[in-house]
Amino acid sequence: MDELQTLTPRQIVAELDKYIIGQDNAKRSVAIALRNRWRRQRVGDKLREEIMPNNIILIGPTGVGKTEIARRLSKLANAPFIKVEASKFTEVGYVGRDVESMIRDLTDLAVAMVRSEKTATVQEQAVQLANERLVDMLMPPLRSQATRVVTSQSEAEEAERAMEEEAKELEKKRENSREKIRKKLLNGEMEDTMVEMDVASDGMPMMQVITPVGVEELGINLQDIVGNLFPKKMKRRKMKVSEARPVLTQEEAQKLIDMEQAVKEAISRVENSGIVFLDEIDKIAGAKNTAGPDVSREGVQRDLLPVVEGTNVFTKYGMVKTDHVLFIASGAFHVSKPSDLIPELQGRFPIRVELNSLTADDFVRILTEPENALIKQYIALLETEGVELVFDKEAIAEIAAIASRVNDKMENIGARRLHTVLTALLEDILFDVPDQRSGKIKITAELVQSSLKNIVEDEDLSRYIL
Ligand SMILES: Nc1ncnc2c1ncn2[C@@H]1O[C@H](COP(=O)(O)OP(=O)(O)OP(=O)(O)O)[C@@H](O)[C@H]1O
Ligand SMILES: [Mg+2]
Repeated sequence: MDELQTLTPRQIVAELDKYIIGQDNAKRSVAIALRNRWRRQRVGDKLREEIMPNNIILIGPTGVGKTEIARRLSKLANAPFIKVEASKFTEVGYVGRDVESMIRDLTDLAVAMVRSEKTATVQEQAVQLANERLVDMLMPPLRSQATRVVTSQSEAEEAERAMEEEAKELEKKRENSREKIRKKLLNGEMEDTMVEMDVASDGMPMMQVITPVGVEELGINLQDIVGNLFPKKMKRRKMKVSEARPVLTQEEAQKLIDMEQAVKEAISRVENSGIVFLDEIDKIAGAKNTAGPDVSREGVQRDLLPVVEGTNVFTKYGMVKTDHVLFIASGAFHVSKPSDLIPELQGRFPIRVELNSLTADDFVRILTEPENALIKQYIALLETEGVELVFDKEAIAEIAAIASRVNDKMENIGARRLHTVLTALLEDILFDVPDQRSGKIKITAELVQSSLKNIVEDEDLSRYIL
């Protein structure tokens, strides 16, 4: 099976188009980067090692779709994908350590991914085995044979023969009844029959393991160690066949999977197709020659450097090489510029893509076109109350225009402004349904204007509400 998804760059862009309006350059770049991973895997051994990922920096104002692109990309890339806030490494307690934890988290993810894929491939067999175990449980308990009193050698021999006969007979009977039970079970006639079985009671709710500082760096998870020290508590429980089957299937599937192989595969997947999305990277790009917290920002960059350049990270599953992991960074870069990053790190992000500010026209499309468009969300929400919410075309244009105007007048927060404008607009309706209003509710341009006019015109008021 293909490790990476097999979408072509154009198909990737088409998928992203379903959720993100505009930003064509950014979509193109991530599509190329993603496809290049797939291409690299098909290059001959020697050259393949030399081909480095083209890490990307997405640059753009807030709320224009940077994170959204990453989020959607992660669903497309059938590859281990993790999003981390670069700024979190500057927080107290994070400085100077733990940057490698992103690779450990990515590896955890990959292992879970491979395990669930493998589980799916053995599912059928696991269900069969689970059904066999259910048959065992449903069988009546064995009866012991009657004892005989013997007084002579010949009598003893006679008795032994008889017992053997009897045992055979019994065996046959049991096989018969097994067959009967199996048939009934597979026919679905025993789903509500109760069985008793041991189930692992998960976790130790009373015990919280607090990881001492430093241990995490070794890639050792204390919880795992402690968890293994104390064997899982088993609890005997009565449940229906229909409830027991998934539990047994899970157990059988675990036995069928070669975990060592799965881990190997997962590590290879991280190394060759893993993607790290480094959000808010501008927050660690300190302007030069300033004292104070900037020192630690540069420190974080220095810590990041080896991970981005390629290093071995020690994880609980073994060594993971990061040379070919793809990094996509993103930031608004309002205050700092990519050139404020330390030169070595700049060099590791050769591709820079700028995202555009969103216009009122973009807002109209964002409100209506994406599969998860805000307007669609509100229509669906009110539909659950039997209310039909209808937006006039002009009303949508008006909402977009207002959002755009407020962005200009105050702070430009991009498409996030649509959320605040829409909630302010719909608040009364959302409150009045279903008690005071029902049926069809039409949103017209006049309604938008009249309900938002006061807020938009009063700058103080809009500062709080929009
Ligand atoms: N181009 C776009 N098309 C559709 N929706 C968008 C677009 N841009 C932003 N949005 C919506 O706006 C919200 C914020 O976008 P996103 O999280 O991508 O911002 P960002 O660019 O990462 O900003 P920041 O720099 O603040 O992190 C999301 O809910 C997203 O759905
Ligand atoms: Mg973001």
